[in-house]
Amino acid sequence: MTAQGPTDQARTYPAPDTFKARALVDAQTYEKMYAASVGDPDAFWGEHGKRLEWIKPYTKVKNVNFTFGEVSIKWFEDGTLNVAANCVDRHLATRAEQTAIIWEPDDPKTPARHITYRELHEQVCRMANVLKSQGVTKGDRVVIYLPMIPEAAFAMLACARIGAIHSIVFAGFSADALADRVNDSAAKVVITADEAPRGGRRTALKSNADAALLRCSDKVRCLVVKHTGGQTTWVQGRDVDVLEMMSHASPDCPPEEVGAEDPLFVLYTSGSTGKPKGVVHTSGGYLVYAAMTHELVFDYHPGDVFWCTADVGWVTGHSYIVYGPLANGATTVMFEGVPTWPDAGRFWEVCAKHKVNQFYTAPTAIRALMAFGTEPVEKHDLSSLRLLGSVGEPINPEAWNWYNTHVGKGNCPIVDTWWQTETGGHLITPLPGAIPAKPGSATRPFFGVKPVVLEAESGKLIEDTAAEGVLCIADSWPGQMRTVWGDHERFQETYFQQYKGYYFSGDGCRRDADGYYWITGRVDDVINVSGHRMGTAEVESALVAHDKVAEAAVVGYPHDVKGQGIYAYVTLMHGVEPTEELRKELEVWVRREIGPIAKPDLIQWAPGLPKTRSGKIMRRILRKIAENDAASLGDTSTLADPGVVDDLVENRMNKG
Ligand code: WT7
Repeated sequence: MTAQGPTDQARTYPAPDTFKARALVDAQTYEKMYAASVGDPDAFWGEHGKRLEWIKPYTKVKNVNFTFGEVSIKWFEDGTLNVAANCVDRHLATRAEQTAIIWEPDDPKTPARHITYRELHEQVCRMANVLKSQGVTKGDRVVIYLPMIPEAAFAMLACARIGAIHSIVFAGFSADALADRVNDSAAKVVITADEAPRGGRRTALKSNADAALLRCSDKVRCLVVKHTGGQTTWVQGRDVDVLEMMSHASPDCPPEEVGAEDPLFVLYTSGSTGKPKGVVHTSGGYLVYAAMTHELVFDYHPGDVFWCTADVGWVTGHSYIVYGPLANGATTVMFEGVPTWPDAGRFWEVCAKHKVNQFYTAPTAIRALMAFGTEPVEKHDLSSLRLLGSVGEPINPEAWNWYNTHVGKGNCPIVDTWWQTETGGHLITPLPGAIPAKPGSATRPFFGVKPVVLEAESGKLIEDTAAEGVLCIADSWPGQMRTVWGDHERFQETYFQQYKGYYFSGDGCRRDADGYYWITGRVDDVINVSGHRMGTAEVESALVAHDKVAEAAVVGYPHDVKGQGIYAYVTLMHGVEPTEELRKELEVWVRREIGPIAKPDLIQWAPGLPKTRSGKIMRRILRKIAENDAASLGDTSTLADPGVVDDLVENRMNKG
């Protein structure tokens, strides 16, 4: 979906002059600061680390080793701070009555909530005291399984306040997925809600949590936010009415002093193999990086209203709904709903209602809205918008142009931000006042980031500016993940083994003659469905767990709205009839095992899968068939049984 056409690359879009006139970073400053940041990272980050309030100031800045076998990443290691104090208390002197969070509920008829920094402080303290009363102390894990409600932000900051480590599980994940994460992180507490309303429907979160907790230690407590008032079963002695307890709790809770390298949160994400891994982010470096990127990439000025449409269940919500904006004393919008309910004008209605200045969403949402035409956009006053952002996958030129013309009215720079759960914040992105956009390109590195392009096979560094290969990063930045929860080996193997001395992103990319980066997508067995990461191995293991399935292979294929769709080849057990009913059953099965986002879009019955003589599934071939590109299957002669390919091509599901 990357823009490849010569015209797209030739055309650049600088920010309008009125934008540039007040932009925080101009072209010259970018070049100067970038050179300084990679030339002397200690001096650069030593200076920018001061944007936070430290309890004990750091004397050391960077202490990093990327050598496979010895990987260790530390920033500001002897400094201490409290993340919640930085995001809340610090602003009380100057902006106690300013709105910190605007909460826009799923149902537009329900009034929005405006939570000031003063109120945020009180709620966070109360929730922190409730956590303490449940025995949660520094270093303990708390799983948060909540809808997009202010209590999700209160819970994150309450954990940070007492030094507990939160792990958010997206409310769209299943009970099984929740149980896996509670168990892997050995959490003491799960915070959930009765129900999660989205798009006018309700998900029974509490009953999912009930099912999950059957698979967990019986010591795990369940804190329940009564949000919709929907019916739940109550387990005496385990379940706690958290809002009721907060109303009695003290509105005072001194922030705990934590080390810069103490974990702030664990966030599970899919990889190319095995179960999702717990990405660990720590306190000091992460917050410095989230705050600085939020300010400079979105050109955030005091008083602006910033809206990131992501869910706090993903890293985008962590860094750009909660931590980055609040560390900057911003007003951040938190939206419970979906773009297309009650109608396809909802995003724009909310922009107009809250006078949003910076709007940050995913290409998949833009594509979904494009299908409804321009009328829903034209209906709303979008004159407050100054900047638009994109994240999650490369933005295709059609979506870019639509976003630019109909939402931005040609007046708003678009920042296409490339980053990952692992990176904590943006790595490659325009700084809007400094770097002219090219539609489809994430453009150039943020401060301190040293991208390199390597030959995929040999790992050789490509020195020429124009290059194509795999994208690695040559040195650390403060927001980088530090380890995989409980498995430092896996951390090293995943990111530092294949290309020695570099952080391997898993993405392919092209660098053009101007030094702009064009992300071409994952080069591993990870697919990107609606901007969300899904491991093909995860979906396969869910499928084979079904007793009628003998074998399964899952690949991505181009999907008009989602970017990539999930294509599953399924071999049934001997004697099992492939029926439409069974197809539906498998879809429901995967939804239940992982969650709705993992549901295969297409299931093809495969009497056999293409395998090498040593039994390895040839995914390259399966991908080609799923992409409807059987003409370029290449050499199939090394297959154990070349005949299986003909059957798969003949019966492919993707008959575009
Ligand atoms: C993968 C990371 C980081 C927030 C969202 C997803 C893809 C992300 C872009 C972009 C091209 C992008 C990459 C990356 N990706 N942003 N602007 N252009 N590709 O986080 O779930 O950790 O996924 O998303 O493939 O590796 P994530």
